[in-house]
Amino acid sequence: MKVARRSEVAPFYVMEVMKAAAHREAAGGNVLHLEVGQPSTPAPEGVLAAAEKTLRTTRLGYTDAHGVPELRERISGHYQDRYAVDVDIERIAVTVGASGGFVLAMLAAFDEGDRVAMTSPGYSAYRNILSALGIEVVELPVGPDTRFNPTPERLEALLPLEGLVTASPSNPTGTILTGAELNNVADFCEAHGIRMVADEIYHGITYTDEPAPTAIAHADHAIVVQSFSKYFSMTGWRLGWLVLPEELIRPVERLAQNLFISPPTLSQLAGVAAFDCREELDANVARYAENRRILINGLAKAGIDRIAPADGAFYVYADVSHLTDDSQALSRRWLDEIGVAATSGIDFDPADGHRFIRFSYAESTTDITEAAERLVGWAERQ
Ligand SMILES: Cc1ncc(COP(=O)(O)O)c(C=O)c1O
Repeated sequence: MKVARRSEVAPFYVMEVMKAAAHREAAGGNVLHLEVGQPSTPAPEGVLAAAEKTLRTTRLGYTDAHGVPELRERISGHYQDRYAVDVDIERIAVTVGASGGFVLAMLAAFDEGDRVAMTSPGYSAYRNILSALGIEVVELPVGPDTRFNPTPERLEALLPLEGLVTASPSNPTGTILTGAELNNVADFCEAHGIRMVADEIYHGITYTDEPAPTAIAHADHAIVVQSFSKYFSMTGWRLGWLVLPEELIRPVERLAQNLFISPPTLSQLAGVAAFDCREELDANVARYAENRRILINGLAKAGIDRIAPADGAFYVYADVSHLTDDSQALSRRWLDEIGVAATSGIDFDPADGHRFIRFSYAESTTDITEAAERLVGWAERQ
């Protein structure tokens, strides 16, 4: 029987590392997990308490496709508190994680055959969702010269474009678009009719003096994609949101009604409490900051010092071309020889990823310290 061409997207290679790591653990070996891209903490206490209560007292039926009003209001308040930006609750659509948000955003904003740019390296699901929808993915190669960020000059060379997907802070690099950089890119997009899809999932996890600026404040027609998975430490709750420009509110609503009916009700009702858990969540960020310091120092001692500016998220994206031309084989060696799992850059950059490795430092400080020591020891033995 026929299998649709749209399913022919690349696999997520890190899953292979995770499988190999699981084998090693099943055989009694120990593994330090620097391949995982999620918080090692559960949802904050306030969310757990709200979920327990909600389970016992609520029917948990479907909700509005765009989500329950109390959550949309809290999200709107979050924009006021954190960025001093007014966002009408009509513009907020609660989604099944950022992932569900991408599907809705890309279906509503682009047609088959449209040209949409994304940075390389960049989060591979953008590439795979776009191509599964028949949208042409236009690679925008970025590197140290632009701090791994897109620029108007780079975009100019790729015209015509219907869309641009940005991520700030980015996965895998952790780099942030500053207010001025975001402004330049947003102005270019607005002037050329390019719809920006701005992934802001790592907002709240930053190590710079200024918080990462939101695209809402810079581009009238941008779609902002957000999630409870990272700062809010709620990956498995499958909850996120979109901030939509006026003209996409109804189109996204119609698509959401048909594709998902509504986001998970228990997660929505409990998620309201997440905005009152700042102290616990900020303590997670303080731990990431300490882990980041330890990992970057350890990598430097191991001779791995060409890294992207790790200004946010919980990743270090390192050039390992002095060690290998096959970063997948190197990550396999580290797993086998020192029990450190990390992710090859090929998941993020089909052209140059074989020269890079992404390290996640979302695990405990004890694990990150041990991993850094093992990497230093490995380098000394070479
Ligand atoms: C940049 C980026 N966007 C989106 C996602 C997916 O997030 P969600 O769990 O909200 O679907 C991830 C997950 O790692 C990510 O790194």
